[in-house]
Amino acid sequence: MNSLLDIARFELAAWRADRHPDAFPYDAVVAAFRAVGKHFVAAELLADLDAVRRDVPRGCPAHRRLAGFLDTTLDKFDGRYDNPSYLALEQLGLPGADGCPAPGHAAHRRDRLIALLMADVLRFELETADGGLDLMPELRPDARLTGKRCRHALRAILPALECLGIDVDADPDDPMGTAHRVYRAVLAGATPDERRTLQLTALPVSLVHDEYMFIRALQSYETVFAQIGVQLTAAIAALTRGQAAPATAALGAAEAALREASPLWSLVATMQPDAFLRFREYTDGASAIQSRSYKRLESLCRRPDAERLDSPAYRSVPEIRERVIAGRPTIDEALRGAIAAGRLSPDEHTALSAAMAGFEAAIAKWRKTHHSIAVRMLGERRGTGDTEGVAYLEQARGIPLFSGGCPFAHGARSADAAPAGALQLTPA
Ligand code: HEM
Repeated sequence: MNSLLDIARFELAAWRADRHPDAFPYDAVVAAFRAVGKHFVAAELLADLDAVRRDVPRGCPAHRRLAGFLDTTLDKFDGRYDNPSYLALEQLGLPGADGCPAPGHAAHRRDRLIALLMADVLRFELETADGGLDLMPELRPDARLTGKRCRHALRAILPALECLGIDVDADPDDPMGTAHRVYRAVLAGATPDERRTLQLTALPVSLVHDEYMFIRALQSYETVFAQIGVQLTAAIAALTRGQAAPATAALGAAEAALREASPLWSLVATMQPDAFLRFREYTDGASAIQSRSYKRLESLCRRPDAERLDSPAYRSVPEIRERVIAGRPTIDEALRGAIAAGRLSPDEHTALSAAMAGFEAAIAKWRKTHHSIAVRMLGERRGTGDTEGVAYLEQARGIPLFSGGCPFAHGARSADAAPAGALQLTPA
């Protein structure tokens, strides 16, 4: 009994005598995965997990967590490894995933998740730097880079902490001291369930240090996209009822959510290009082109053009594509319907159009930053979603979010952007 692999296999065998889902040896299995990286897990352990999976009843609430964990751990084994399984999104409990349509509930869920994910980044970086954690030893950043990374993670977490009423003694002259206090406060206040979720949703494929932060940053953006999806759905419902004010407010909240999340890009930009290129050797097949939350967001604004719908952009997210083809409502259509029915006053139309333009500008800025980071990290290489890479992103940057949306909205703010909807849609 001398390796983490042996311990995991031993504990799994012991558990199979009892099979109570709450007693599953998550700690031992996760430790065995993290000791080598998911891409390198021994075939014997994967076979053991596969055998466990055969006996786990699907659809049983008591086994939900275990079934999700087995799906995540066995994705490469099954040959269905992709971006949602890489990020264990099913287990994260994204905003809206519980079926609740209330934007306030989704915003709270976003704050909670961002707080947990960013606190976990701080914990990982600081415990490694302090020598208390000896995981993922490849290409560790130096102290200067760790400091920079922690400052950006702090910027990303502080708005969520404020919304959640988590009070930390933030000292601008002592960011590292603040970072220590923040992660300890958030993780000390996490429920056992939340702590388990954090543990089971970080299964890097490699031992490259920076991959941990990258996974958490991707999960954080997924969280924001999912919350925005709830806001946009609420905007469509309001417009369909002919209520412009709540629709305008929901679009404003979507814009604010995306802008508030921008420190996540600064965090991602601290990734060492060498580190990225090393671990992406093992992430082939997992690309954020498969992000359901992003494509949902996009296709709630307007129906994608036929060319994009038939391209890898939407073929990589088949469920979303099907819903688009089935005619899911969009903000564009709901606005047209409200105008045609004479339900919007000119002032309401103007305010709504400005909110649409503001959100479009925020998306344009997100796309621009994404593109720049991809240029820096990836260069001329192909994407892991089997696109041309940067050229794909460059082309996608110009796709209007709303009909009549301005492809030159890049970087514009809501106050100075042209009102997108107002350009095209005039009262019938
Ligand atoms: C090192 C950093 C990153 C690089 C080099 C990168 C690169 C790429 C590339 C090349 C694509 C095109 C699809 C493909 O072939 O894979 C893509 C798509 C995408 N990425 Fe990233 N990405 C990075 C970080 C992120 C982050 C942090 C997010 C946040 C969720 C993200 C979200 C997306 C989304 C949503 C798409 C699909 C865009 C579309 O289909 O229009 N990426 N990325």
